[in-house]
Amino acid sequence: RNLRKMMECRSDINRLNNHFLLIYESLTPPGEEKTRQKQLLTLLERLVNKEWPEARLYLYGSCANSFGVCKSDIDVCLAIQDAEIDKSKLLVKLADILKSDNLQNVQPLVHARVPIVKFMDPVTGVSCDICINNVLAVINTKLLRDYAQIDVRLRQLAYIVKHWAKSRRVNETYQGTLSSYAYVLMCIHFLQQRRPAILPCLQEIEPTYSVTVDGIECAYFDQVEKLQDYGSRNKETIAQLVWAFFNYWAYRHDYTNSVISVRTGCLLSKQAKDWTRRIGNDRHLICIEDPFDTKHDLGRVVDKSSIKVLREEFERAAAIMQHDPSPWITLFEPY
Ligand code: GTP
Ligand code: MG
Repeated sequence: RNLRKMMECRSDINRLNNHFLLIYESLTPPGEEKTRQKQLLTLLERLVNKEWPEARLYLYGSCANSFGVCKSDIDVCLAIQDAEIDKSKLLVKLADILKSDNLQNVQPLVHARVPIVKFMDPVTGVSCDICINNVLAVINTKLLRDYAQIDVRLRQLAYIVKHWAKSRRVNETYQGTLSSYAYVLMCIHFLQQRRPAILPCLQEIEPTYSVTVDGIECAYFDQVEKLQDYGSRNKETIAQLVWAFFNYWAYRHDYTNSVISVRTGCLLSKQAKDWTRRIGNDRHLICIEDPFDTKHDLGRVVDKSSIKVLREEFERAAAIMQHDPSPWITLFEPY
């Protein structure tokens, strides 16, 4: 009788896994999307280099970190070495160049937290944001991409978490919830913590890659092709990991005392980072350390009311994974 029950359970788990894998596949962008993005980048390089021959363009964010779903916008960083540069003037000039090449909806947003120019390319249909000298974002994009190559379960988990966060409207930093970047770091940390671990801590291994950006040393082991088998001793499936992820953030994380840290692969104490109280607008109600800019808490956008919303959403998701007969539908029901 018990055996029969176990078999029933196993077929349930397989069914659940298959549903999650189908969602993951349906969110994965087709190859032609990359082609269109490259096409746009080549056009931009031509335009930018006509005015600033020494400038370089880099993709960052979800179009380059391998956590981008279908029809994502692209984020571009213009790197230019010029001590005299006035960012606002440069952005306005860049906007003029883009307009004169018939790119559409060109808007320089010089007063944004990260000043950018936004536009849409009518030929490829791709929307794009360009920022200036945000090189740290280019480096953390590479770190995320390198982690994604070690074990496919990271991409699967992060796609599902991002899809859940967008459906439930808890991926809106201007409303006090978390960025996609923060959710991916939460997934990496979570997989570093599984036993056996599914992901290593790349910043704790002898570095093979090292650059200094804005006075911050960014160094880690980036020969990830040598770590292909790293997670293979852990047999957990995507359904089990989704369950455990939400269970962790609903019931197990110590919000009062802990900081999650991909850099160390461990939990740190809020005390040690001096993130125990509100300083200015940073409240540190959920603490996610940036892997390179270690003074930066990705949870700083979360306030008293949005932490409640977030934790209720984690609890809802955990309950659905525990009891709902079709979590692959209920989990993503629009808020
Ligand atoms: P989607 O556009 O939602 O698919 O995800 P994304 O991966 O582009 O993430 P997001 O827009 O949150 O962030 C874009 C990039 O900005 C990240 O990949 C990081 O490289 C960089 N970044 C660095 N610091 C921060 C930060 O504090 N907040 C956010 N949002 N991004 C940061
Ligand atoms: Mg983005």
